[in-house]
Amino acid sequence: MTIALGVLVSGSGSNLQAIIDRVREGSIDADIRIVISNKPEALGLDRAREAGIPTACALHADFPVREDFDREVVRLLRGAGVEWVALAGFMRILTPEFLTPFAGRVVNIHPALLPACAGLHAQRQQAEHGVRLAGCTVHFVDEEMDHGPIVIQGAVPAFPGDDAESLGARILEMEHRIYPQALQWIAQGRVRVEGRQVLVDGAGRACGGPFWTNPPLESPFDR
Ligand code: GRF
Repeated sequence: MTIALGVLVSGSGSNLQAIIDRVREGSIDADIRIVISNKPEALGLDRAREAGIPTACALHADFPVREDFDREVVRLLRGAGVEWVALAGFMRILTPEFLTPFAGRVVNIHPALLPACAGLHAQRQQAEHGVRLAGCTVHFVDEEMDHGPIVIQGAVPAFPGDDAESLGARILEMEHRIYPQALQWIAQGRVRVEGRQVLVDGAGRACGGPFWTNPPLESPFDR
């Protein structure tokens, strides 16, 4: 099955790039129909254009009412035939105007092991707290920030002396592994949500090594 994917970005779009690269090599069965940003200068839009993916911009300044902004994004996504939405560094809270039409089909990546360090500046929160395991989380989006059911988490070590930047770079590498994997599980129709639990059909139960994710990454995402 190939899913029709829309990606929302606000910034550099490195996760978008990881997704584009994995789609291109045939590792994610997705067709990226559109990339939308609330910031016209977002590098993510350039990455999409470079890849020949249609782009659109919805400027929140043009929509003083939050719900109107959300309706516009829904309109753009629907116009592109999008079924699933991946938030990739999209810095806006979504209202039911957005979430209802795409109920259960919006995922996000957060740069921490949720529910720890939700909200802004998660990398800094982790570095300042002195955690020894940091990481990232792909989760379904619900109306609470960084709250929906968790598809996959990846852990990375944090070291004394790490700051938001050094730790953030390590986390970001892991983000680029787990987000494509989660999207492929979704494309394969293997993901089911039961309350707070996300069940991934056929997924393993543990793995070790220099990277640690649960569920374990599968080929080709394990390299
Ligand atoms: C990532 O750290 C992601 O977890 C967070 O925003 C950042 C986006 O980075 N939600 P990029 O735009 O994908 O490079």
